[in-house]
Amino acid sequence: MSARDSLLHRRVFVLPAGNLEEAGSVSGDVRRELTAMGVEQDIIRRAGVVCFEGEMNIAMYSQGGRIILLVADDRVELLFSDRGPGIPDIELARTPGYSTAPDWAREMGFGAGMGIPNMERQSDRLEIRSRLDGGTVIRAVFKRGAE
Ligand SMILES: Nc1ncnc2c1ncn2[C@@H]1O[C@H](COP(=O)(O)OP(=O)(O)OP(=O)(O)O)[C@@H](O)[C@H]1O
Ligand SMILES: [Mg+2]
Repeated sequence: MSARDSLLHRRVFVLPAGNLEEAGSVSGDVRRELTAMGVEQDIIRRAGVVCFEGEMNIAMYSQGGRIILLVADDRVELLFSDRGPGIPDIELARTPGYSTAPDWAREMGFGAGMGIPNMERQSDRLEIRSRLDGGTVIRAVFKRGAE
């Protein structure tokens, strides 16, 4: 996002690894901030879902990372980045039903393999980049004023 995109708001949320008790809290903060900024209800709902899924995946599969919320005149963006281990096959990870969730996570109700497909459905654009050992970066874009 460049300066001429008229950035209105930027917030960084740090996510420690394996912090499942707190996972989900960023999604609540994002919803509250978007509400306070007067962002469209539909985007608040969709960004909340996308944030929750991305946040859960960082907590469950990565060694920690961060989420950046950007609000501009014309869009909202969520940028997820983590410290690895990376996603070996992104196409596979995008496939509904694919999951490597461990048993303990399945017992908690996770592991349907629907997180990333949900992120794709609820955002206007979802880009995933990942490097083994490097980590994963996901960019979700929500276009404003499109309704
Ligand atoms: N940040 C990440 N780092 C490494 N691997 C990931 C990351 N996010 C997702 N994955 C991999 O992609 C798979 C699919 O993720 P997705 O969120 O779609 O499903 P899930 O987390 O397994 O189940 P659900 O989200 O439905 O509870 C995961 O099982 C995991 O193998
Ligand atoms: Mg998931």
